[in-house]
Amino acid sequence: MVQPIGVIDSGVGGMTVAKELMRQLPKESIVYIGDTKRCPYGPRSEKEVRTFTWEMVEHLKQHDIKMLVVACNTATAFALKELKEKLDIPVLGVIEPGARAAITFSENKRIGVIGTEGTVHSGAYPEALKGIDSSIRVNSQSCPPFVPLVERNVLKGPEAERVVRETLKPLKDQNGIDTLILGCTHYPLIRNVIQREMGDHINVISSGEETAREASLILSYHHLQEQGSQPPVHKFYTTGDFDKFKKIADEWFEAPLDIFEVIELDPVEIF
Ligand code: DGL
Repeated sequence: MVQPIGVIDSGVGGMTVAKELMRQLPKESIVYIGDTKRCPYGPRSEKEVRTFTWEMVEHLKQHDIKMLVVACNTATAFALKELKEKLDIPVLGVIEPGARAAITFSENKRIGVIGTEGTVHSGAYPEALKGIDSSIRVNSQSCPPFVPLVERNVLKGPEAERVVRETLKPLKDQNGIDTLILGCTHYPLIRNVIQREMGDHINVISSGEETAREASLILSYHHLQEQGSQPPVHKFYTTGDFDKFKKIADEWFEAPLDIFEVIELDPVEIF
C-alpha cells in the first residue's frame, strides 16, 4: 500500500517545500494540510502553535503517513522536538536544513535571517547556525507583513515591492551580511522581490531544496522509499478559503494536483 509523506504549514507557504519534495522525490505521494483559517501562526503564542500543529498531525494520521515534514518554521521552532519524541515515524523540520544550506553559501560568516515573530523570538536559527559554527554572526528580523501578502496572492508588482522595501529597510541598513535565510516557508513565493530588494550580491536561501534532500536521505535510511510503479497521488487540504488556496497552488505547481478539499481539524488538548 502506498504511504504518503505528510506536509504541514499554517497556509500556502509549505507548498514551497512540497514542490521541492515532488521534484526530488517524484515517486512519492504527498498529503498536505494548510491551516489557512488560522494563518498567520507567526504572532500566536507557543501553546497555540503547538496545539494547531498537533491538530494537523492528528488529522494526517488518518492517511497513514510514513514521514512528517513540518514545512513551517514557526511550528518547527515550537513543536519539532516534541513531535520527534512522540511520533513513531521520521519527522523533519525546515530550520536545520535552512541553516546548513546558508552555511555552505556564506563566505564572510555573516548571515541574515528573516521570519515570523514567533520564529525570530524563539532564537531557533541562531541556535542552529551557531550549533554548526560558533563563529557565525546572525542578524535576525521578523517581517510580519509578508505572510498576509502571500496569502492574498500578491506575489509581485508595486504593492509587493513597496511592502518588501519598507519591511527590509532595517536589515538592509545594518549591512554586512552576504547570505539571507528565508526563515519562513511563505517567503520563497516572493523570493524574486526580496532578491531584487537585497541586491544580487546577497545569497538568498530557502530551505525547501535542502529539506527535500534530507527527506530523501531519511527515506532511504529507513527503507521507506516508494518502490511501486503507480503514479503518485497528491492531496491538498485547507482549513480556509478553497478558491484562494487552489489558485495559489495551481500557479505555484504549474501542474494539476489530484485532490483539493476543505477540512475541519478536531480540537486536541496539549499540555
Ligand atoms: N509558513 C510559516 C513559517 O514558515 C508560517 C507563517 C505564519 O503563519 O505566520 O513560519
